Amino acid sequence: DLPARVRIHEVGARDGLQNEKSSVPTAVKAEFVRRLADAGLTTIEATSFVHPKWVPQLADAEELFPLVSDLEVALPVLVPNQRGLDRALALGAKRVAVFASATESFAKANLNRTLDESLAVFEPVVRRAKDEGTHVRGYVSMCFGDPWEGAVPLHQVVRVCTALRDMGCDELSLGDTIGVATPGHVLELLASLNEQGVPTNVLGVHFHDTYGQALANTLAALQHGVTTVDASAGGLGGCPYAKSATGNLATEDLVWMLQGLGIDTGVDLGRLVATSVWMAEQLGRPSPSRTVRALSHQ
Ligand code: HMG
Ligand code: MG
Repeated sequence: DLPARVRIHEVGARDGLQNEKSSVPTAVKAEFVRRLADAGLTTIEATSFVHPKWVPQLADAEELFPLVSDLEVALPVLVPNQRGLDRALALGAKRVAVFASATESFAKANLNRTLDESLAVFEPVVRRAKDEGTHVRGYVSMCFGDPWEGAVPLHQVVRVCTALRDMGCDELSLGDTIGVATPGHVLELLASLNEQGVPTNVLGVHFHDTYGQALANTLAALQHGVTTVDASAGGLGGCPYAKSATGNLATEDLVWMLQGLGIDTGVDLGRLVATSVWMAEQLGRPSPSRTVRALSHQ
């Protein structure tokens, strides 16, 4: 059975732009977010309050957020620690996301902490965010494979998901950071999480499309009952020269499939494609999304 409605968690402005080589002007980012909202997306991850040296592409978070915060859509932002939460709350953010890893190697590479240290950092962040009435998403990266460690055992993912849930995260997003998952593995992980007490209704899926499996993996997750799917307009993200990190599932490809399945998303595909074509012009290269290419004259 497939769900009647899917909530798309749009990550192009964050996961997409954080990987761009060239830095995108703040005004262009703001217009991108506005156009995404105009296309009917209702959850638009806007930016990250991380260390500006670690992700220079998003160093303008303080300037950007006030340019879009009047929009009547959910605008989650990433926060890696208390300092990030301070910055986000000071600007009135209503939704934040912490981001953990299922592997030691990526916790170290991404957060400069061991896995347990990173969870210890998140614990008071989540508690304080909840006390402030903020919605908290918990990302788990490297749920399927890791560039340093290879295949990731299910129990490692379950452990981190359970820890984030116990802290009070409202929802979790299962990240296939390097895009190696296949549908059977997705179903195994979802079943395993359910068996260990993590219900499907708190789970979202976050697929990168490195191996062209993102849409197949999404369909498997929908068949299991998942209704929150992360995607990036135009398939933005990733460095074309880095083997292990391409863009997310393209939002247009997702919407095309969901429309065909009769699943409601509230997204106007024409407007979304026009937004991605516009963004591709700003970035100076065509969108990798098959649907954007098919529906435009790029
Ligand atoms: P660190 O160097 O260990 O930081 O980095 P620290 O805690 O030792 O602090 C050092 C200095 O940085 C201090 O300043 C802090 O105040 C400052 P000083 O006292 O020396 O003057 N600082 C900050 N400044 C501004 N904002 C902050 C902040 N935190 C500390 N938030 C840290 C640790 C976590 C900060 C760093 O590793 C970091 O920023 N990492 C972010 C990495 C990142 O953004 N990765 C991409 C997002 S995750 C992702 O893309 C995966 C996902 O899409 C899902 C998937 O696909 O799997 C979500
Ligand atoms: Mg990602």
